[in-house]
Amino acid sequence: MTVTIKSSQEIERMREAGKILAAVHQELGHRIEPGMSTMDIDRMGEELIAGYGCTPSFKNYCGYPASICVSVNEEVVHGIPCDSRILQDGDIVSLDAGVIYQGYHSDAARTVAVGTVSEKAKLLIERTRQSFFEGMKKAAAGNHLHDISRAIGDYAEGFGYGVVRDLCGHGIGSRLHEEPEIPNYRKFLRGIKLKPGMTLAVEPMINAGTGDVLWMDDEWTVVTADQSLSAHYENTILITEGKPEILSLTEEERAAGCEKLF
Ligand code: MF3
Ligand code: CO
Repeated sequence: MTVTIKSSQEIERMREAGKILAAVHQELGHRIEPGMSTMDIDRMGEELIAGYGCTPSFKNYCGYPASICVSVNEEVVHGIPCDSRILQDGDIVSLDAGVIYQGYHSDAARTVAVGTVSEKAKLLIERTRQSFFEGMKKAAAGNHLHDISRAIGDYAEGFGYGVVRDLCGHGIGSRLHEEPEIPNYRKFLRGIKLKPGMTLAVEPMINAGTGDVLWMDDEWTVVTADQSLSAHYENTILITEGKPEILSLTEEERAAGCEKLF
């Protein structure tokens, strides 16, 4: 299995895909409020993606039935949107979405607070996001893949959180999932050497309790084994000689200092 190096034309398409996906997440984040169903979010996401002339990456992927994965509280990832699942004040909701623009994918996830959430939930969301940026400090050509993994995992575990080990990040490009797998925890081996032009989806999934997870009977929804809260933060990135280019951020997110966090 090989890890592909993207051409400048491929990178251009992935930049555009990332920009669109960032805008979709921003819009969804603004619109989420108590009383909405998880299916409302899927519908809005699908409309937004279509409005940008893109296709949702997830719809029908391996049989997944929706465009946006919507995972509430102890649900980690791959929650299936449902009309009867209503968001309550104090919930946290993880939205994972992918778009295809001219044959190229971008994949990103955000955990959003619904109304007013507990301090514990707020910290989990913020630290999960920061664990991604800790990984970014190591995401440069010449370093090794698992330098990213270790930075993410050590940061999150420093708070006593559980890192989900059963699911990983991944390479991305003309396919949603490409080589390599990207764990979010310390590995004994250092992994492949990072090279300019690699495009990766880095996606820490962090639990307030144990990192152990279970699959629900719908065969998609992943939940924490101890029912603790879980948060997810993901971006599609481009490896360069220097700092990685984070493709799925809005201009606003950059201006707010995301790029200064690493
Ligand atoms: N971001 C998720 C991942 O990388 C995508 C969900 S796959 C789907 O695994 F099948 F649920 F769409
Ligand atoms: Co992903």
